[in-house]
Amino acid sequence: MTHTIKFWAVVPAAGVGKRMNADRPKQYLDLAGKTVIEHTLLRLLQAEVFTAVAVAISEEDPYWAELDVARHEQIIRAKGGKERADSVLSGLHSIRDHAHDDDWVLVHDAARPCITPSDIHHLIDSLVDDDVGGILALPCADTLKSLKGHNILGTLDRSHIWRALTPQMFRYASLKTALEQAVGNPAITDEASALELQGKQPKIVEGRPDNIKITRPEDLALAHFFMEQQ
Ligand code: CTP
Ligand code: MG
Repeated sequence: MTHTIKFWAVVPAAGVGKRMNADRPKQYLDLAGKTVIEHTLLRLLQAEVFTAVAVAISEEDPYWAELDVARHEQIIRAKGGKERADSVLSGLHSIRDHAHDDDWVLVHDAARPCITPSDIHHLIDSLVDDDVGGILALPCADTLKSLKGHNILGTLDRSHIWRALTPQMFRYASLKTALEQAVGNPAITDEASALELQGKQPKIVEGRPDNIKITRPEDLALAHFFMEQQ
């Protein structure tokens, strides 16, 4: 039986934001009058492509239920996990009764609030006919050095090295299988790395440089600046 391919979003939002060193997880910090996670989710919803957005929230999280977006009809709450990959897997499980194996899932960090609907469409348009899927990424602007201790051993050919961003877009069943088989592997820091372990070669699609991940305190001001420019 044929069916129309659907698009789902999964947003891991169960981190504690250790490097941000704030009084609450970074996804709940204020950015231009809204929390970081509200910006992120509203932008995903604005893309108007997702059947639903599954958001992985820690069970001890006292902040999520206070947000209006928590009651949005297209938002599904899933349980956060120990590592980011566990949170993503939990998000996938929360849509298991509705998603088809070959539906597309776009995984996007809650901590990337500057994502634009146009970048989401660019990723989808570039990969929708692909077998595997891929990710938004950026070429490296800096010259890259390989080190031994603090000594430089050499200069890397940066034309082969790109920085991985999100969203990362894969088929529901192959992403779920790849993450299930990668559980506990510390080398799995994004979805693409789980697919790579399966011998797949995800594609890169050049994204916008303003799609930053809020990681350290100075990133909040940077995100604010980028939002004003957009
Ligand atoms: N994340 C998650 N579950 C975890 C760990 C992280 O859902 N167990 C989410 C974060 O909430 C964030 C995204 O994965 O949206 C990217 O992770 P990262 O930037 O590392 O966020 P934190 O883990 O919260 O930050 P830190 O590593 O500084 O503690
Ligand atoms: Mg982390």
